[in-house]
Amino acid sequence: MMKQEALEVLKNRRAIRKFKPEQVTKEDLDAVLEAGTFAATAGGKQAPVIVAVQDPDTVALLNIMNAKISNSVRKPTEQIKDPYYGAPTILLVIEPENVMVPDLDCAVVGGNLLNAAYAVGLGSCWIHRSKEMFNTAEGRELLKKWGLPETMRSVCSIALGYPSGPHPKAAPRKADYIIRV
Ligand SMILES: Cc1cc2nc3c(=O)[nH]c(=O)nc-3n(C[C@H](O)[C@H](O)[C@H](O)COP(=O)(O)O)c2cc1C
Repeated sequence: MMKQEALEVLKNRRAIRKFKPEQVTKEDLDAVLEAGTFAATAGGKQAPVIVAVQDPDTVALLNIMNAKISNSVRKPTEQIKDPYYGAPTILLVIEPENVMVPDLDCAVVGGNLLNAAYAVGLGSCWIHRSKEMFNTAEGRELLKKWGLPETMRSVCSIALGYPSGPHPKAAPRKADYIIRV
């Protein structure tokens, strides 16, 4: 039974881009974060750090920082203002640059966070360009404030909140997704 439930979570999680304004409860957030810390990491080193941002000013700042990076590669007609879609919480998975496989560790932790979020009734969406965000003076300032070395780079950021609106449908899976040998 448990096995089936886990598979349902993995299959039914979708990217959520519309959130209720209410903040994520401590209980739900803790459950998601704990699941993140149990992700596989290279060499079992648990190199990543997860930063859970719920302070509204910092959430607003991260939106501005991400939009600045995203808009620099977008057409003037496609500029965005709220890349985290108004989510009340932003999760960042940050990892030192000098570890074996930083991007991969972060992605595995990020995957756990997305699935755990769905399992507890939260909505989430992976948001791109967080690595570039933390490669700026503003980004380095935040790392310092959080007590992290300035060489740390976030490679995963996630919008998190209670979903608003109907649950999105998955796109059909492509026919040649799996090759059996
Ligand atoms: C590496 C990565 C980067 C993504 N970047 C963004 C992003 O910047 N903005 C966004 O709205 N969604 C982003 N997504 C979410 C994908 O668009 C979404 O997962 C995809 O459309 C499939 O939908 P599903 O997650 O509901 O299956 C990203 C997903 C991944 C894995």
